[in-house]
Amino acid sequence: MDIKIIEFQKHDDERGSLVVAEHQKEIPFLIKRVYYLYGSDPKTRRGYHSHKKLEQIYIAINGKCKVMLTDGKENKIVELDKKEQGLYIGHNVWREIFDFSDDAVLLVLASEKYEESDYIRDYNIYLSKKEE
Ligand code: TYD
Repeated sequence: MDIKIIEFQKHDDERGSLVVAEHQKEIPFLIKRVYYLYGSDPKTRRGYHSHKKLEQIYIAINGKCKVMLTDGKENKIVELDKKEQGLYIGHNVWREIFDFSDDAVLLVLASEKYEESDYIRDYNIYLSKKEE
């Protein structure tokens, strides 16, 4: 499955912390879009899609949440709870996001602009495309 945890550069001093993620160092794609999720109830489960082309990095810049990732064969649950860590998700990976803490803010860095035609939102269609 095309996922990996990326460690960002963290600079701590008496003034606090500063985290950096730079193109071609920690970020393997050119960022064309940024969005963030917050205010999700702990019972909320969202995502439920894969992307045909899009690559993303999820960063829990506050609080925590979990991401379930599958390619139809292997299943992984990744807990995001570190401000200096990102979860890279390549294309063709199904994801569901859940277990949001009340204070969770999930920042998403994306390699493409928003395009609904890049989404597969039906798990059975996702599985059938994987078989092709
Ligand atoms: P949606 O895709 O349903 O979120 P999830 O990641 O849980 O599947 O997105 C919620 C709404 O926001 C939906 O109406 C589409 C819209 N949206 C944009 O307009 N631009 C974007 O970049 C994103 C990610 C979503």
